[in-house]
Amino acid sequence: MKVLFIGDIVGSIGRTAVETYLPRLKRKYAPDVVIANGENAAAGRGITRAIYQELLMTGVDVITMGNHTWDQKEIFDFIDDAEFLIRPANFSDEAPGKGMTTISKNGHTLSVINLHGRTFLPPHGDPFAKADELIEEAKKVSPLIFVDFHAETTSEKIAMGWYLDGRVSTLVGTHTHVQTADARIYPGGTAYITDVGMTGPYDEVLGMNKESVIYRFKTNMPTRFEVPKQGREVLSGFFVDLDDKTGLAKSFERIYINADYPFKA
Ligand SMILES: [Fe+2]
Repeated sequence: MKVLFIGDIVGSIGRTAVETYLPRLKRKYAPDVVIANGENAAAGRGITRAIYQELLMTGVDVITMGNHTWDQKEIFDFIDDAEFLIRPANFSDEAPGKGMTTISKNGHTLSVINLHGRTFLPPHGDPFAKADELIEEAKKVSPLIFVDFHAETTSEKIAMGWYLDGRVSTLVGTHTHVQTADARIYPGGTAYITDVGMTGPYDEVLGMNKESVIYRFKTNMPTRFEVPKQGREVLSGFFVDLDDKTGLAKSFERIYINADYPFKA
């Protein structure tokens, strides 16, 4: 089974980048399933029902979230009905929505799990214990399991990679918006990258207007970070080819497209 993951889609520039490049990426990699992190899709903060539907129409099959899950209040109105929208599984038991979904396409069945880190982020439930619980559940359906671990620190993500090695097909890190160069297959067969990076404005600071961010760093004064609506784009992704029988990774490719690294067909 072939899976394409698109890193944190930020604002309208990110959504347009997906519209522009996803058809070309589909021609190049022929993925059976496309997963994208959409927690910054609505102007950097959360996701709306319209954007969820727009991303599905564009060709994304499953959308994962993160620390910005609840930023658009309307999510409470539709998350329980959104079959292919998942939020971190280790959020409170009180949280609506779900942390895992299963999708069947082209004769392959894949479970997708979303987890949230706890280092330098709000103290949610233990993501390691939650992973154990959900993997056991997912294995009953298929050995193909894809995890998006939305976390701040490289160490927490690498530790999770080792913890899940051989038990999941792929673990990708998201949240830092900067792609890391450490993609690999662990000895047990799990494909891994510490952070896939973002899909959105290329000439800003992690997708946020650079003037505001520089002002904040210089003065330590409050300022509102906005996501620009115009400018050059970057698309960051990760492609994996998985063995259907074992659920383990056969090969992977990092995807990084922008003015300095143009798309190659
Ligand atoms: Fe995030």
